[in-house]
Amino acid sequence: MMNQDAGNPIWQDLSSDWLNWADRLAPQADKINRHLIDALELHGMADRVAQRCHNGLCVLDLASGVGEPAFGLAALLSSAFSDMPESAKGKPFPSGRVIASDIAPSMCAGLAGRAARAEIANLDVVAANMQSLPFADAMFHGVSCRFGIMFCQNPDQALRETRRVLAPGGRAAFMVWGPMAENPLFGAMDAIFKQVLGTGFEAAGLDLFGFSSAENSVARLINAGFDDVSLVTHTPCGRIPAAAPFWRPQMQMLFGAALRNATSGQGREIDDLMRASLSQHIEDTYFRVPMCFHVLSGRREMAV
Ligand SMILES: C[S@@+](CC[C@H](N)C(=O)[O-])C[C@H]1O[C@@H](n2cnc3c(N)ncnc32)[C@H](O)[C@@H]1O
Repeated sequence: MMNQDAGNPIWQDLSSDWLNWADRLAPQADKINRHLIDALELHGMADRVAQRCHNGLCVLDLASGVGEPAFGLAALLSSAFSDMPESAKGKPFPSGRVIASDIAPSMCAGLAGRAARAEIANLDVVAANMQSLPFADAMFHGVSCRFGIMFCQNPDQALRETRRVLAPGGRAAFMVWGPMAENPLFGAMDAIFKQVLGTGFEAAGLDLFGFSSAENSVARLINAGFDDVSLVTHTPCGRIPAAAPFWRPQMQMLFGAALRNATSGQGREIDDLMRASLSQHIEDTYFRVPMCFHVLSGRREMAV
């Protein structure tokens, strides 16, 4: 199913960069995705659903890009896979299907191609703007969204839409970036792209930090009608050999179009400045660069 609204053209332009890195970044993505998937509390939902229907759970992933966390969710909901999150140890993960969605047709096409190559049988792809979802009320037992809600033109409308398509008792979970000051990789990228190419996140039309305030984000979920709202902040710190240009994947996935138009000299200058800026985080020959994200979640109230 295709939706005519392709959204901000920047994502169309970046889909080749996202596809280029997707498989290599998947193991790292899995590590943080488990926080988002745990927040959906699918076990509780499965217990209730099992009493009424035998088709298993139906989970929607919004702004899936080329597959995160939709692939991980599909694996967990497939009886063919045995991985399970920490919280589910000792209890089989419920089975079901995932609908992966994104506003950018090229992201959806890339995602569908990856899913076909990986022979994922319980995942469908639907192009959709999360501000006006093409789904019936109460259709999903859970809704996930990883680093997507902040990029909508009207995130509050997208939150209300998310709640509308959730079944009573179902949870939505959003992974969102914490403040730029607590994400030095992004801080360096923003400053260096402004310096070398005259375009930072704002000029590129990328609002990464619209949900960085924990207090405001919780209030937005409550205003959209969610109950039992929670927010958990995570501050992992990688351990990457100091020789590795580890900033390149994120840099290309956010500024790929600008980099393609840059001269090779500008490309080298950006790399050198990124290394110099991030070297303050080198400890014992490893980059230890902290990052900060929140997992924000809320429930559609139970029917009375
Ligand atoms: C930072 S990427 C995140 C992709 C993926 N969830 C991940 O974490 O790898 C943001 C995605 O949001 C999508 N997006 C932006 N606005 C959207 C909207 N209104 N509805 C649906 N998707 C949207 C973009 O097309 C892009 O693929």
